[in-house]
Amino acid sequence: MIVDWYATAARDLPWRRPGVDAWAVLVSEVMLQQTPVARVEPVWRDWTVRWPAPADLAAATPADVIRAWGKLGYPRRALRLREAAAAIVERHGGVVPRGVPELEALPGVGTYTARAVACFGYGSPQPVVDTNVRRVVARLVHGRAEAGNARSADLADIGALAPADAGRAVRFSVATMELGALVCVAGTPRCAACPVRNECAWRLAGCPPHAGPPRRVQKFSGTDRQVRGRLLDVLRSARHPVTAEELDTAWTDPVQRARCVDSLLTDGLVEQTPDGCFRLPH
Ligand code: ADE
Repeated sequence: MIVDWYATAARDLPWRRPGVDAWAVLVSEVMLQQTPVARVEPVWRDWTVRWPAPADLAAATPADVIRAWGKLGYPRRALRLREAAAAIVERHGGVVPRGVPELEALPGVGTYTARAVACFGYGSPQPVVDTNVRRVVARLVHGRAEAGNARSADLADIGALAPADAGRAVRFSVATMELGALVCVAGTPRCAACPVRNECAWRLAGCPPHAGPPRRVQKFSGTDRQVRGRLLDVLRSARHPVTAEELDTAWTDPVQRARCVDSLLTDGLVEQTPDGCFRLPH
């Protein structure tokens, strides 16, 4: 039922088209972590043209990948993706591995991403559980308004709902994600458009409100994440190493600024030249 709904309602996203290989899928999945589709699309296109295979990205410098990451946020993901590319070259001859354990062993690839690549990149039926899927399962199966924290039973819950046919199971995985993204959304879901509204445990229970603490909305303004972004903006647009004074223009509070420069150095997102200037790492 969810699979049939997907056939008519899914968004036409570039990484879902036929012929997109497992490497391009891996790049899309890392970019999509905590980042909206609309922001990912142009960056994903640039990356897959510029670095069409793991060996291409493995040969790039950290500065190249941090620049190309643009303003997607959480830029450590860019460095991890480059490390994953290098590991794919070293351990797997430059071909993205097909097995979940080999995928999970790559830098920056966790439970979700490994299964998403096996499933959407290689057509292997896998339970693929992101926040959207956890919310669908919480409502449809458990009758709860919201998902709560990740649980080890999440994979088994969704696995129990998946169709037996392998091709349908693959589409079921992406379809459940899409249902959570478009219909079974956080807050007020669009139940009138839902293909499983008549079997939904939460609706059958009368749509009880969320019982736990309110969901946290991540703030951005004034956080270290914003300051780190500003500092990286300065370094990304500079063609030469910048002085500490030039970096000072990124943020007024000197204590927070110094803390953020330190953390960028520690994370390997910034390096210092012998004369004390700052640049993206080479
Ligand atoms: N299709 C496959 N994986 C996806 C994701 N993480 N977000 C949106 N669409 C997807």
